[in-house]
Amino acid sequence: MSSETAFHADALLELGFLAGHHGLESNSDGPFVWCFGQFRLHTPAAKFLNLKFAYLAPTGSMTITRDGGLVDQIELRHGWQEVSLRLPATAGWIDIIVDPVPPVAEDTRELAVMLQTATFFDNEARHSLRRAAVANDILNDQEYRNGEVVLTSHPPNLRVNTETRCNIPETSQACTYCDWDQVKWEEKGSAPFRLETLDELGEFYQSATAVNDCSTGEPTMNRQFGDILLRFHRDGKPFSFTTNGQLLVEKRRRELLGKNVSVYVSLDSASKAGFQRYRNDRFDPIVRNLRALCHEKRSHGNLPRVHVSIIAMRSNMHELAAYFDLVKEIGVDEVKVRSLVISDNPPPAFKNNGFLFDYEAETLSMRELHELTPVIRQLADSRDVRVCMEWEEFERPEIHGEGEPLCAEPWKTLYVLNRGILPCAFGVRPLANRNQQGNRTLDEFLHDVFNSEEYQEIRAELAAGRMPRYCRESLGCPVLKRMAPGERGAEPSDLGQGARPSPLVK
Ligand SMILES: C[S@@+](CC[C@H](N)C(=O)[O-])C[C@H]1O[C@@H](n2cnc3c(N)ncnc32)[C@H](O)[C@@H]1O
Ligand code: SF4
Repeated sequence: MSSETAFHADALLELGFLAGHHGLESNSDGPFVWCFGQFRLHTPAAKFLNLKFAYLAPTGSMTITRDGGLVDQIELRHGWQEVSLRLPATAGWIDIIVDPVPPVAEDTRELAVMLQTATFFDNEARHSLRRAAVANDILNDQEYRNGEVVLTSHPPNLRVNTETRCNIPETSQACTYCDWDQVKWEEKGSAPFRLETLDELGEFYQSATAVNDCSTGEPTMNRQFGDILLRFHRDGKPFSFTTNGQLLVEKRRRELLGKNVSVYVSLDSASKAGFQRYRNDRFDPIVRNLRALCHEKRSHGNLPRVHVSIIAMRSNMHELAAYFDLVKEIGVDEVKVRSLVISDNPPPAFKNNGFLFDYEAETLSMRELHELTPVIRQLADSRDVRVCMEWEEFERPEIHGEGEPLCAEPWKTLYVLNRGILPCAFGVRPLANRNQQGNRTLDEFLHDVFNSEEYQEIRAELAAGRMPRYCRESLGCPVLKRMAPGERGAEPSDLGQGARPSPLVK
């Protein structure tokens, strides 16, 4: 094999490469197939197989055999995961056995794994790195479920910011809702993100199963953007980032094609005039770049995944139908609807490109967002466009299981940002600043922070079913917002988000 070949569930079925399943289905993440406890896959002559699927038992195993002989075996954990498996030396059918197959409430079918993609590749180093990351992921999940306070594992989700500069505030005023000045003040003096930063992150990078960019800045401005993407690709690390789309020119698009990357392009309006209210007059070039990327990726295994990101605000509600028409025509993979994060000290109403922007008036309450949910779903479904609403994601029941800590973030995710180290997207203050690293390597510094006293206190409280002080300060926290006022120890906020703008999770 040259490099790698990826097949989504629908392609596997079309090509007749999969046997032992319940047929094609799809959800907001795309097409998938539920496979039986024993199913078969036809493999090309490749050394390794990367499978992406969800598994519903707490733990289990996946075994690969050919003609009854063991080829490889790997442990599984609950939830979505990507595992790397060794393949037999020659092309042909393999048997995949999943054990146990958990019973699923209200569905009597044999549901072993919910398979989304199969990727075949030859790179031994990538396989080893993925195996180590998966082993860390299993250990981390056990430590989370047991409510351990001091961890030996590393967080599987690594969040970084690859760029602190941005072309919009460099040429005009920052986007109306962006907390630009405050974040730049907090980032002052921190080192820029370079390709070598990935090595400096040491085990925190090697153990990560996915890397997300949370820049308050424009990632496509990083001079090593292409090299960084290539490194993620070679190391088998799925990557996601948000961009204003203005610099997604041919060179940048070429760097993205065929890579396991999720690109979120910020587009808050269906028209040039509407877009200008929040950003600038570059609506047409962004739409051109988006259209080109959606077209070009078709001949590159449909990668990267292209999402558009819209903040639901009072002033763009009337445009939603036109918005879904536009993105349907462009051919994006998904629309992500976010809510406006309001600062605890929002500026008074101000003008951008002649339009008045009033934070408080623009913000939709939690009740309004819930009323909007079926409207958005209908607009999307009637056009066959996939949509995901940020406020719904945090309400999925699998996020917090019976007897587990109230929230998984301080176990599973780490934000290594220029403005500091945070345990969560909604955290209002860093648990450590970058200038506290001193003579330690970044890896050593992060080890110390990840098991620091305050981190331990956060985990201990969450494991005991209480909201830690740190989380009670984070008024945007969806776990806090779900709790009854008496349980949370902080006054409820009816705003869509609380506190100050935080790094946003894709
Ligand atoms: C901070 S930007 C950085 C990436 C890139 N420069 C961009 O604008 O897409 C990341 C995302 O946060 C969103 N964002 C910025 N301020 C926000 C706020 N106050 N509330 C909600 N989302 C916000 C932007 O619209 C964008 O989609
Ligand atoms: S929202 Fe993004 S594009 Fe706008 S100023 Fe902030 S970082 Fe730049």
